[in-house]
Amino acid sequence: MPLAPRSILVLSLMTLASVLLVAGCQPDRTMPDGVVVAPTEAPLRDMIIASSPELQEGQRIYDLRCAHCHGNSGDGQLPVTIPTAEAVGLHIVPPQDASGHTWMHPTQRLRQVIRDGIVNPLQQFPMPPFADVMTDEEIDWVIAYMALWWTEEQRIWQRQVTDYHTQLEAQYPTLIPDEPAGTQP
Ligand code: HEC
Repeated sequence: MPLAPRSILVLSLMTLASVLLVAGCQPDRTMPDGVVVAPTEAPLRDMIIASSPELQEGQRIYDLRCAHCHGNSGDGQLPVTIPTAEAVGLHIVPPQDASGHTWMHPTQRLRQVIRDGIVNPLQQFPMPPFADVMTDEEIDWVIAYMALWWTEEQRIWQRQVTDYHTQLEAQYPTLIPDEPAGTQP
């Protein structure tokens, strides 16, 4: 059904408002590069995990539910299975470490992806939904665990986009319709 002129006007005003918002309120910043090698030194990483029951739980759940697709070290699909995915013309599972792009996304959206999965017919092993088997807390622990693979710059960037997303949500409450009311990043 064609949009009524009034709806078009409202949509144009909303688009203009978001452009102005992005141009006006977003601090000046340059996105850090993705890097090829996982940055966290093993002994320090082990100490950080050993000092936090939440991270230990995040690691346990990651190893149980995510590692067979995203790699034990977050390095992505198991290399021996990549040629078969490519041979059938489908995408491979992305890494979660510093060479991937999970760190580019706000926590609210990562939670949503883990809860609901991603339906993508172009994937050989599509991202499944975990809402039925993981609590919101467990999802946050896994995200915190995966963040250990990112560089400090990437973690700072990820916090910035999360904060910015929180501001946008306050201004446009329908931005994430599925997000339970009152959930904080
Ligand atoms: C059956 C394989 C599979 C399992 C198991 C799996 N994923 Fe995924 N995941 C994928 C695929 C494939 C994508 C890319 C989907 C797309 O972009 O179309 C993805 C994307 C993601 C993304 C989006 C970020 C990105 O880099 O694209 C996050 C975050 C994520 N997965 C986290 C998890 C977590 C946490 C678990 C375990 C609780 C998990 N995944 C389990 C296959 C899987």
